[in-house]
Amino acid sequence: MTATQPSTLLATLGGRYYAGESVFAAEQSEIFESMWFCAARCADLANPGQFKKVQVGSESVLVVRGRDGLLRAFLNVCRHRGAQLCTEPEGHVRRNLRCPYHAWTYGLDGKLVAAPNIATLTDETGMGIDRYRYGLVPVALTEWLGYAWVCLADEPPPFTDTVIDDVTSRLGDPAAIGRYGIDGLQVGHREVYDVAANWKLIVENFMECYHCASIHPELVEVLPEFSRGLAAQYFVGHGAEFGSDIAGFTVDGSAGFGTLPGITAEQDRRYYAITVKPTVFINLVPDHIIFHRMYPMSADRTVVECDWLYTDEVVSAGRDVSRSVELFHRVNQQDFDACERTQPAMSSRAYRNGGVLVPAEHHIAAFHSWVVSRVGEAR
Ligand code: FES
Ligand SMILES: [Fe+2]
Repeated sequence: MTATQPSTLLATLGGRYYAGESVFAAEQSEIFESMWFCAARCADLANPGQFKKVQVGSESVLVVRGRDGLLRAFLNVCRHRGAQLCTEPEGHVRRNLRCPYHAWTYGLDGKLVAAPNIATLTDETGMGIDRYRYGLVPVALTEWLGYAWVCLADEPPPFTDTVIDDVTSRLGDPAAIGRYGIDGLQVGHREVYDVAANWKLIVENFMECYHCASIHPELVEVLPEFSRGLAAQYFVGHGAEFGSDIAGFTVDGSAGFGTLPGITAEQDRRYYAITVKPTVFINLVPDHIIFHRMYPMSADRTVVECDWLYTDEVVSAGRDVSRSVELFHRVNQQDFDACERTQPAMSSRAYRNGGVLVPAEHHIAAFHSWVVSRVGEAR
């Protein structure tokens, strides 16, 4: 948080940070390809041979479940002459990943297992070829909260000091997130939004609530304090309290599904929003979790996958989650509409020097400084 007078207007970043391909290229290498990036829900890849292709910065990455049950990630590039191994967004192979071009074939652990005439091939020393040296290029992978997080950096930053620290510094208590048991929950619903806006507009929107009263009528009904525009994320450990007549976090305030088994009385009847840099939002409510993953595709396009996670009991019993889903689905649409409305102005001369942050948005300045610290000043 920048030390400022409470009534000051602070400058935002200039429009060029949101519209230019050169800033986006710098963000790809210095942010998405350098940090831990949330790639996939592990349970979507439950069986050996299941894979998912995800865009991480400028790279295509495959997350694959091995025959040994472990999840691994690889660059989606054949070591022969570079064809993309998988072009479909997800799928299931029986034993191996086979390049369709000349049939080089890789095990689910990345090792090169077959290629036409492989036994006759030698490397530059005249030896038979090393199946690992010509195997798929591995990418670091860590599982946390039931998601596979990947990192393309040669030396990934410590997961605890980055990802987990973002969550802890928001909630103020390292044990708080664990009480929700997110890794054991099931996806009750998923929506994929293709948003015509820069990823940073989506982050900034998520960080402030100055807009809540004007665009989120259903949300402020459930969380009356949001109508005052206070950014709940600014106050460490604070969760916005449900209105006194609200039974659950649903579109009409009707009852949800009780409370998740591990949470404390203090966490009940409250909503906590967490931004995990660079591309994840976690929303905690007593009976479910709303988990957003962004995939920045270009300077003006971001795909957002949003999971609604419930206990196994709720999902396998086929209980009706529609009123619960509808609340945040509306919030998402309202937010993404606002971001799409903002994006075209990023290349307007009116926004060349940016706009301003009102006091309720001042904490966004820290996000802006962080972006500049990673990608440098844009000209
Ligand atoms: S490029 Fe993959 S086998 Fe040739
Ligand atoms: Fe919003």
